[in-house]
Amino acid sequence: MATPRTHSAAPPSLWDPVVRITHWGIAVSVLFNAALDEGGSLFHVSLGWLVMALLLLRVVWGVLGPREARFSAFPPNPVAALRHLGQLASGKVRHYPSHNPAGAMMVYAFWACLALVTVTGLVMTGGATPMQVAEEKAAVASGDWSALIKKSDGESSEAEDNSLRHTAEEVHEVVANLLLILAALHVIGVFVESRAMRRNLVAPMVLGQRRK
Ligand code: HEM
Ligand code: HEM
Repeated sequence: MATPRTHSAAPPSLWDPVVRITHWGIAVSVLFNAALDEGGSLFHVSLGWLVMALLLLRVVWGVLGPREARFSAFPPNPVAALRHLGQLASGKVRHYPSHNPAGAMMVYAFWACLALVTVTGLVMTGGATPMQVAEEKAAVASGDWSALIKKSDGESSEAEDNSLRHTAEEVHEVVANLLLILAALHVIGVFVESRAMRRNLVAPMVLGQRRK
């Protein structure tokens, strides 16, 4: 696995709109769903679908986007990540044209957790779209429980279905909590790196900063 080349070794002064929109869309939705909202509500499922869409867009952008947004600009490389943390501790930071190797590992961990939390969400809801969830809730509110009964009377394997849903629920909750821990580490990491590099890393993720 190659370390990104460093001849244009400066992170972007402004990330492109797709990276910024997917970043803040995912960040706000995850924080809301994991910390504030009632799991399984219509709003929760809608935000979850939004996260799925943003994640897919970001994956496509990782192949087709500008150079610093491509996966090839920040390959997952645990050895380089440890080396980078060592350099950080000794105060000798190196600049990278995209995410630094430690940041890159965090980014891939985020994406893996997001994929897992959305897939388990889909398993729990049987793949129902937010529209179908809304219809189901409206039916139940008006006293028609058939939508829920239909869901659980598959001839072959009701027990299997239930056990799969139960496992998905457990994984969903654990990964949602893991996402919050990663987010806390991520924010600490961004501020530590910004200090070490004497460069505001948050500004390029918002509206940009003037080139020095
Ligand atoms: C954006 C990422 C997501 C996060 C951070 C997240 C987080 C959570 C958390 C923390 C809970 C537990 C809430 C509680 O029991 O108090 C939960 C429950 C739930 N989530 Fe999500 N979720 C996400 C995406 C999704 C998606 C995409 C779906 C469906 C397509 C979904 C469907 C559900 C359902 C049905 C429950 C209720 C489980 C139960 O019956 O206890 N979630 N979610
Ligand atoms: C749950 C909340 C969050 C999640 C899931 C998250 C996730 C991510 C991801 C996946 C990336 C890579 C962006 C890409 O290449 O598409 C990233 C980068 C970044 N995030 Fe977050 N983020 C969160 C919260 C925050 C917050 C609150 C801040 C502000 C302090 C922040 C600041 C940044 C910055 C500055 C970068 C670019 C770092 C660099 O220059 O390498 N993030 N984040």
